[in-house]
Amino acid sequence: MTFLSDAVRRIKPSATLSISQKARELTAAGRSIIILSTGDPDYSTPENVKNAAVSAIQNREIKYTAVAGIPQLRRAICEKFKRENNLEYNSSEIIVSTGGKQVLFNAFIASLNQGDEVIIPAPYWVSYPDMVSLCGGTPVIARPSNEDNFKLTPAELRRIISPKTKWLLLNSPCNPSGATYNRSELLGLGEALLENPHVWLLSDDIYEHLVYDNAKFATIVQLFPELRKRTLIVNGVSKGYAMTGWRIGYGAGPEWFIKAMDLVQGQQTSSACSVAQWAALEALNGPQSILQEYRRDYEQRRNLVVALLNSIDGIRCHRPQGAFYVFPSCRLVAGKTAPSGRLIRNDDEFAEELLEEESVAVVPGSAFGLPFHFRITYSVSVDDLREGCMRIERFCSNLR
Ligand SMILES: Cc1ncc(COP(=O)(O)O)c(C=O)c1O
Repeated sequence: MTFLSDAVRRIKPSATLSISQKARELTAAGRSIIILSTGDPDYSTPENVKNAAVSAIQNREIKYTAVAGIPQLRRAICEKFKRENNLEYNSSEIIVSTGGKQVLFNAFIASLNQGDEVIIPAPYWVSYPDMVSLCGGTPVIARPSNEDNFKLTPAELRRIISPKTKWLLLNSPCNPSGATYNRSELLGLGEALLENPHVWLLSDDIYEHLVYDNAKFATIVQLFPELRKRTLIVNGVSKGYAMTGWRIGYGAGPEWFIKAMDLVQGQQTSSACSVAQWAALEALNGPQSILQEYRRDYEQRRNLVVALLNSIDGIRCHRPQGAFYVFPSCRLVAGKTAPSGRLIRNDDEFAEELLEEESVAVVPGSAFGLPFHFRITYSVSVDDLREGCMRIERFCSNLR
């Protein structure tokens, strides 16, 4: 008999956090590690946002807030949906939580019973399947039919939906692939959802502001207003506004479902941090030009990293349209042997040996449900990107 619950024994530690931890330990031990494994923007939070937090502290905005968030922030979120997505939401359809992560947890706890299935297209953000399992549901992984674009097709979605499906979890732009669904791809998926009225859509739009090549971000309910009554949009300020540590995310969905999430949150964290909520309010209501600057800069780094990786013998890298990740294939180097004598059989061993031999931290694709790939975060300095890719090239050229 074990003291630990079945639920906790079903989940694994986050692979991205463990690799970053290992990289930090090696750095502390004096090794010069190039860390391409985290999911953090490398910018600082904008000054006006930091100042808003300082003012909030000085104004004694330091008490518990309403569970679903301060009314000013919920209103600002409604205005954001109107301004950027042309979607109408009322404050009663919005919940503010401790990061997008808590919005997802609230939604799963509030909706999943034993045996309920959640469709998760691979490659997926590492946390999704574990969150679903922790909340009693069953993750059902949809494989991409084409490993060059990593997107779920309507045919695969229709094939995998079962009477037990409760949610489709769609993340565009995607962590880890950067894949960004265009309007016609979303139209196809939306049609499949319309045919299956028992399936809800969880649209994780957290990388909304990081879309390149002049592509325009779209979310399914813009195209299918009739899906609004069974869609929860998850978003937040973490990625777009460089505010990961502030822990503010939000959800938008039918009022009765937001109320159920409010019940869960009320018994869990009470509310998101009051000071961080005032900071998020400034992020949404203050000048938005910073988003353009970040986007331009990320796009240049994406171009650089894709070119550098594709010049390496044995590595193939697609050109994603969003987020700040690339997800290259290392399939061609599997089966080769490193100078240490170690056989590289798969992506886990590729990432371990790369860290060992060349001190570059990347995350193996298996952690995201798609082996023989690895994830690189390009929200790091251009110098680190160049140095990291140079080391990967040296690593690959030494394999026999
Ligand atoms: C796809 C995706 N969704 C949600 C989140 C959660 O973000 P946060 O909890 O910082 O708002 C992340 C963070 O890495 C993510 O990559």
